[in-house]
Amino acid sequence: MFFFVAVQSFVVFKASHSSPVIHPHKTIRSMVANWEAAWHDILHQGGGPRWKVDDPAVKDQALQRILQYCGTGQSRSSNDDDQHRPLSILNILCPLAGDDPFVALAWQRGHTVTTIDLVPDAVALQGQQISRCQKAATATTITSTSSGCSIDATAATAAPTEKMEEAEEWTETVVSPALTKWTHCSGRATCYVGDALQSINEDLHGTFDAVYDKDAFGALDPSMRAAYGARLAEYLRPGTGILYTEVKIQKKEVVDRTTGPPFHVEENDLMDTLGSHFDYVAGLGQVYEIMFPLGMAQTGHVLRRRTLEE
Ligand SMILES: C[S@@+](CC[C@H](N)C(=O)[O-])C[C@H]1O[C@@H](n2cnc3c(N)ncnc32)[C@H](O)[C@@H]1O
Repeated sequence: MFFFVAVQSFVVFKASHSSPVIHPHKTIRSMVANWEAAWHDILHQGGGPRWKVDDPAVKDQALQRILQYCGTGQSRSSNDDDQHRPLSILNILCPLAGDDPFVALAWQRGHTVTTIDLVPDAVALQGQQISRCQKAATATTITSTSSGCSIDATAATAAPTEKMEEAEEWTETVVSPALTKWTHCSGRATCYVGDALQSINEDLHGTFDAVYDKDAFGALDPSMRAAYGARLAEYLRPGTGILYTEVKIQKKEVVDRTTGPPFHVEENDLMDTLGSHFDYVAGLGQVYEIMFPLGMAQTGHVLRRRTLEE
């Protein structure tokens, strides 16, 4: 059974069912090359969809769960600048976001979204989805004053912009040679091209109500989890910020935690990495059925960022 899991792993699965080679992501260079190759295969070579889940009902379910658990945290501190912002409108971080349609859905519902991905093509797809949502909304409302955007209503019927560089609603900032930031004119979407294991912006520390982690923790080599966990702890609001994570498990009695991505992840794997900064709130069990990889199930967990240590 595990042979099939390996063949259909995130990075090397191809529609042609080529040999099952797993590349350990030990260095940033090999990590970038492997993920770029995976995206190139998906987008240009007819490769399998791997981790992708496009069902809007599934994305809505994730958002509802995030809203549910964000609402049960401690109240914000009195010196919090944002204390008057209703908790039903969230500031959500989506690390290793790929082109997950969750991001555009959350943006469309009025939440603020920040994404990070290594691969520019994936970030471009994410940007296009948000642009499309905006154009669809603008087509019905004709003018948008609250967003600060000035997209012509006729643009709603135009073909989706292929490149973010050509999209007037996105502004590019080259933060460093390894980090590019795309800011949407709504002020509610920011997409970074860069390494989520690095600190991208100290101004973002302690500002997020929620992290949406779908196949992010479970996609990283276990040697990279500590750095990733440290970033999540930095970005989430102490005492209230929640981590909603979807990870995969192998459906067999004796599991292999060393092979992936996707890696087998259970509560104890999460808490081994995150336990010093997070409380475990809920295990959601299987959150929906998946076709790939064979022999795996998609499970959900909720953790809450503890208050800052004295
Ligand atoms: C398994 S995919 C999941 C994508 C998305 N969360 C989803 O479920 O549709 C992992 C994504 O993380 C990106 N990625 C991998 N390592 C990364 C890193 N260190 N920093 C930022 N992005 C990374 C890859 O390019 C890929 O798009």
